[in-house]
Amino acid sequence: MIFATGNEGKMKEIRMIMEDTCDRILSMKEAGISVEIQENGVTYEENALLKARAVAAHTKEIVLADDSGLEIDYLNKEPGVYSARYMGENTPYNIKNGNLISRLEGVPEEKRTARFVCAIAAVFPDGREVTVRAAIEGRIGYEEKGDNGFGYDPIFYVPEMGKTTAELTEEEKNRISHRGKALRLMKEELRKTV
Ligand code: IMP
Repeated sequence: MIFATGNEGKMKEIRMIMEDTCDRILSMKEAGISVEIQENGVTYEENALLKARAVAAHTKEIVLADDSGLEIDYLNKEPGVYSARYMGENTPYNIKNGNLISRLEGVPEEKRTARFVCAIAAVFPDGREVTVRAAIEGRIGYEEKGDNGFGYDPIFYVPEMGKTTAELTEEEKNRISHRGKALRLMKEELRKTV
């Protein structure tokens, strides 16, 4: 099985969760596949499928790919599917996070609801395609907190944990995160179909 990502952090998370289902999961690089992928879909599922199909064209293995983002309800679900590109792909996250906090200035706690969403697509050698989606609900904080994780983690506060996702350990985050949940859903799908 190949996971269509170049992100080593994601590969580590994927291997931790999938190890009891598949004993060999390769990244694109490990599989020796390099393709330009246009993520121009308007849904997470579309983007995940675009990535998985592009890699599947070069292999006879099962290919998985994911797409994720942060939806802030008060901002009409921005940055959403454009999360990585919000304010420019190379803009540091402390700037992006500061911008989102300032756009929520004066917005009360109950209206700061947000979620991380993750879709995972699988493309099988016979052409079948499956997608799953999962989310984690939270609130946008008033300042950045925590040094773990990446991206928007320092401003994503999870009320049940009393912490941002940047304050959780890797194991804690995997247990409750959008990606962790979506990976476990995909694992169920693979058990059914493979
Ligand atoms: P992609 O799925 O790799 O395209 O990532 C989309 C973007 O969503 C990332 O670059 C982050 O900005 C954001 N994002 C997705 N998942 C997380 C997360 O777990 N923590 C923080 N930011 C995330």
